Amino acid sequence: MSTNSRTADHPIDKQFLERWSPRAYSGEEIPETTLKSLLEAARWAPSSYNAQPWRFIYARRNTAHWDQFLGFLNEFNQSWAKNASAIVIAISKTTALPPGASTEVPWPTHSFDAGAAWGYLALQASASGWPAHGMAGIHKDKIRSELGLPDNYAVEAAIAIGKQGDKSLLSEQMQERESPSPRKPLAEIASEGKFIP
Ligand SMILES: Cc1cc2nc3c(=O)[nH]c(=O)nc-3n(C[C@H](O)[C@H](O)[C@H](O)COP(=O)(O)O)c2cc1C
Repeated sequence: MSTNSRTADHPIDKQFLERWSPRAYSGEEIPETTLKSLLEAARWAPSSYNAQPWRFIYARRNTAHWDQFLGFLNEFNQSWAKNASAIVIAISKTTALPPGASTEVPWPTHSFDAGAAWGYLALQASASGWPAHGMAGIHKDKIRSELGLPDNYAVEAAIAIGKQGDKSLLSEQMQERESPSPRKPLAEIASEGKFIP
């Protein structure tokens, strides 16, 4: 199975090859209903005990919170994400109530579960023509304090979403990287019965 420059070694749905993370965004506004359908996809991710520890806080461009959310990103990410249509902060709740318990306990799968939700969002975003781009280059302490997050919530990452724009919007260095990236061979990441370093 091949699409764009990517080839899967084993049969998969083409959506997995078609999703990739652009940096050149067109700068158009995203309707809130469109953004909500991307977040809706995230909602249906699986999670340990169905605790659904993910939370998403967003700002759309040309709205009151846009400049503040752009300021949550590091300088490099701001340089291209300023043309995105929405910035979403992905958060996870680090505690939850096990079945039958009366108090919350630390929840070891909060990041794993939030990661699954981000993956669902990214696939829906790509399928909807509003591709998403995850970002770890963010100011976590600033996000925590400005959004008033309680201690049992972790800032995971930020997500830029927008319509793909022309490559020429990017610096030369970023233009060179503006295409779907390859992957390690399956044999390097999956093995039967034993760990292969
Ligand atoms: C959690 C996470 C953090 C990332 N952080 C950044 C970032 O700070 N800046 C950036 O330009 N890209 C960032 N990326 C994008 C990755 O580099 C990209 O997903 C990876 O190279 C694979 O490319 P693809 O998404 O186009 O398939 C991040 C992606 C993820 C999932």
